[in-house]
Amino acid sequence: MQGRKSLSAFTQPARCIASCPLYFSTMNAQSSPHQQATPPDLTAILALVSEDMAAVNHLIRRRLASDVLLINQIGEHIISAGGKRLRPMLVLLAARALGYQGNAHIQAAAIIEFIHTSTLLHDDVVDESDLRRGRKTANALWGNAASVLVGDFLYSRSFQLMVELDSMQIMRILADTTNAIAEGEVLQLLHVHNPDTDEPAYLRVIERKTAVLFSAATRLGAVLAGADAQTEQAMADFGLALGFAFQIADDVLDYTADAETLGKNLGDDLAEGKATLPVIHCMNHCDVALRERIAAAIQSGDLQAMPEIVAAIHAQGSLHYSRNIANAYAAQAENALLDCPDSAFRQALRGLAHYAIDRNH
Ligand code: IPE
Ligand code: IPE
Ligand code: MG
Ligand code: MG
Repeated sequence: MQGRKSLSAFTQPARCIASCPLYFSTMNAQSSPHQQATPPDLTAILALVSEDMAAVNHLIRRRLASDVLLINQIGEHIISAGGKRLRPMLVLLAARALGYQGNAHIQAAAIIEFIHTSTLLHDDVVDESDLRRGRKTANALWGNAASVLVGDFLYSRSFQLMVELDSMQIMRILADTTNAIAEGEVLQLLHVHNPDTDEPAYLRVIERKTAVLFSAATRLGAVLAGADAQTEQAMADFGLALGFAFQIADDVLDYTADAETLGKNLGDDLAEGKATLPVIHCMNHCDVALRERIAAAIQSGDLQAMPEIVAAIHAQGSLHYSRNIANAYAAQAENALLDCPDSAFRQALRGLAHYAIDRNH
């Protein structure tokens, strides 16, 4: 965990939609004995929710179906490639951690994964990516138009599933969430090829494009469990902070992972002109001449400059810095659970906070 001084750049945190993560609450948080127990790893977490996850996967496959062949082909292509299913797992665990005994969490989890999958189809078009979940992307195989339209199908299918849950509260949460995600993607578009993108701007983008969906996942679990307002907010705060940690870790992996393990191409962010946290930190710390070359590469998407920039990102400690920020968010997520009754499910939520920052894909 890094010290208070090096987090000082974050005294102006992103304006947040749900509840603003305050970095210093992480530093000052009280701890409790169960909080300090080593959380379960992903294998143990998957075992804990295996029955529920099997039901979620079954429902996803069943509700993917359409009599339009191309929808089935593209839907199957991306869904059967797997993915970590983290967001649906969060719905299940949050609901169970708060004592939920019904079945609606299965449908809520499927809805969250449908929304996530639709954003991936759209994201790969926008980012011109050709590798996802270890497979060629849908846009690479079927073209942009088909990907966008099938993404729309999945989005609207998620709304059909939502209506079936017959809860105005859940519909409001998910309507607000999907709207914020769209804002995040557009906000990101506005920053592409902009070398002046700074940390607050970066945080504003990742909050909306990623963290709000994590937050909706855990909030839905709490709502289904009939939690009081304070507990619901704590679960939403947990998801939000976890989402920040997850996206920052993703942005580090874009520079450090092994493409085969990651299932996505490395270096995509810079090639797309995206200034993510490692690049922003590097530009703030390197010499003027190098900063100008990085700025030019972000503006032009010039791939020739990539090796030099990647070397500078390593040399400036920018990956270490970014990992520390991700760690601080994950710790903040854990702290949001302090008042939640202890259980295997609560510990599994903590385990996912650790996994989000300590993963290779
Ligand atoms: C990818 O999310 C999009 C980001 C927010 C970085 P995941 O890494 O959870 O994607 P899958 O579902 O496991 O493929
Ligand atoms: C996450 O951003 C995109 C969404 C929230 C859909 P990225 O562009 O970093 O995601 P990957 O790396 O392509 O999965
Ligand atoms: Mg992308
Ligand atoms: Mg990425």
